[in-house]
Amino acid sequence: MTDAALAGRTVRSARSALRVWDPLVRVFHWSLVVLFASNVLITDPEKDLHHLIGYAVVALVAVRLVWGLIGSRHARFRDFPPSVSAALGQLGDIAKGRRRVHLGHTPLGALMIYNLLATMLLIGLTGWMMTTNAYWGVKWVEEMHEFFVTWAEICVAAHIAAVIWESRRTGVNLPRAMVTGVKMIEPRDLPQSGQPKSGKPTSGHASE
Ligand code: HEM
Ligand code: HEM
Repeated sequence: MTDAALAGRTVRSARSALRVWDPLVRVFHWSLVVLFASNVLITDPEKDLHHLIGYAVVALVAVRLVWGLIGSRHARFRDFPPSVSAALGQLGDIAKGRRRVHLGHTPLGALMIYNLLATMLLIGLTGWMMTTNAYWGVKWVEEMHEFFVTWAEICVAAHIAAVIWESRRTGVNLPRAMVTGVKMIEPRDLPQSGQPKSGKPTSGHASE
């Protein structure tokens, strides 16, 4: 093995495996992906299944909102408060090529998450309104439903692009962390003194 390969291996094997996403967050995320995609791509909007899946999305978001108050450390809203100044700081980091790994959601990620959660609720609300006597056949309600779905689609595309971009920039595989719950963090990215302030270590150090 060359020196460079050996050095790369050493860095990788020194990474700490930190458990950051609890099972509820992960099941919530991938269920939301499947249900949202089903209603956009597969179901017939005039059929009951579309409405049922739409309500399931709303129920999922409701559970996540409660979990944001009582869930595990990085699942809690106070771990990723909506902050425009923090988001601008992250943009500054990106522009200046500064590397900062976040154990939970990043400030930009947080803004996107609140936006996606709110948009899901607005899609559900306008969808439900179309089934009521008061708003059945009302054009602006249909248009709002379609508008919020299109907005969600654009945001999801941006969300996926950002996740891939941030994974490459920081060297932390974020999609994999959303599957396993574990982020692989290099020692230099750990909070002061090498001791993780948050994120439960799994079996200590692990290789990627
Ligand atoms: C319909 C599509 C999607 C929607 C609506 C969506 C929505 C969300 C939401 C609401 C969160 C916050 C999770 C929480 O804290 O509970 C999130 C986080 C996340 N999503 Fe998605 N997502 C979608 C697709 C994807 C895909 C395809 C990937 C993989 C490439 C992905 C990767 C992630 C990752 C890695 C995070 C955590 C980001 C971080 O580390 O801060 N998402 N997503
Ligand atoms: C995440 C949840 C949802 C998504 C992604 C979604 C998506 C869509 C899409 C893509 C359309 C087609 C718009 C078009 O014709 O261009 C649509 C139409 C429709 N949706 Fe939803 N929907 C959701 C939730 C709901 C809910 C909860 C209800 C009602 C309980 C509902 C009722 C309807 C109705 C009645 C239409 C037909 C509107 C028309 O006549 O043009 N949707 N939805």
